[in-house]
Amino acid sequence: MARQRILTGMRPTGPLHLGHFVGALENWLRLQHEYECYFLIADYQALGDHVDEIERIRRSVFDVAIDWMAVGLDPYESAFVVQGYVPEHAELTMYFSMLTPKSWLDRNPTLKAEMQQIEDEHDTISMGFFNYPLSQAADILLPRADVVPVGDDQLPHIELTREIARKFNRTYGEMFPEPKSLVGRVPRLLGTDGQAKMSKSLDNAIYLSDDAKTVQRKVRRMVTDITGQHPRLQATDPGIVENNPVFLYHDVFNPDTEAVRDLKERYTRGTVSDGEVKDTLVVALNAFLDPVRERRAQIEARPEYVAEVLHAGSERERVIARETIDEVRERMRIVYTPDAMTARLR
Ligand code: TRP
Repeated sequence: MARQRILTGMRPTGPLHLGHFVGALENWLRLQHEYECYFLIADYQALGDHVDEIERIRRSVFDVAIDWMAVGLDPYESAFVVQGYVPEHAELTMYFSMLTPKSWLDRNPTLKAEMQQIEDEHDTISMGFFNYPLSQAADILLPRADVVPVGDDQLPHIELTREIARKFNRTYGEMFPEPKSLVGRVPRLLGTDGQAKMSKSLDNAIYLSDDAKTVQRKVRRMVTDITGQHPRLQATDPGIVENNPVFLYHDVFNPDTEAVRDLKERYTRGTVSDGEVKDTLVVALNAFLDPVRERRAQIEARPEYVAEVLHAGSERERVIARETIDEVRERMRIVYTPDAMTARLR
């Protein structure tokens, strides 16, 4: 039997960080062997709010592809797709936009929050940005994906995708599967400053491409108390482990659970310094990142190879994209054969 399909993706707006890894990439790595995977670099989507930063997008397309390979995604097994190389993504978005009531986008909580943020920064919202959840639905339905592994902020978009699939199927006959979402082990990784989310704009991220020294510097600066109400001034002060970002990272990235348990116990009693807890985390993070760095160094030396991977992966998706578009046009009756002359009007 044919393998089920996955389509998922990321916007090329910068290098990827630890939050991307535990929220998504870790799942993709596991799934790449079980499913037929299309990993999308969504350059159209990035243009929606970065149209004046094309050089950043161009560069980030490579950053993202290299990060993916550096963590171990295999571009021979799975297709790395550049959205703009497969313009069928745009075409299907356009058809769906005829089918979708504007109110479905107005009520999308992720879109709402993002638009509010753009307005707070006194920027204008482009039509392309407003429409991006719909273009994301087209991304997913173009290869008729069954499963979409994403971070939890993307769930409203998957729900929208299912609604559009249902509406299309109801109107034009069964064609699209209703894709299921799959959220990662850590739906949202805190930033190093304790804010709810790791992100470039908040300057609180540790990147997959950070070198060992940078990781050390960032971890040493980490906040240990989100509330700011329990200052721990010396190693003999009893510390609080719950919601302590440094320990949350230990739980996620330190495979030595016994050592972590011991650190927590000593921290609570006040017999270990913040410095030691952080340095142990630095060691764990660098042990995780070292093989990623090694693979990155090899790939970065071959930009033509990366460009080739993107072309080849996009071509692979394009074949099935054409099939979908042809069928959509047929079902929507966007076919102007001579018999249209005698079509009966309602
Ligand atoms: N919105 C996603 C992000 O911000 C990127 C994306 C584009 C995507 N198209 C997709 C994710 C389709 C899943 C499926 O990273």
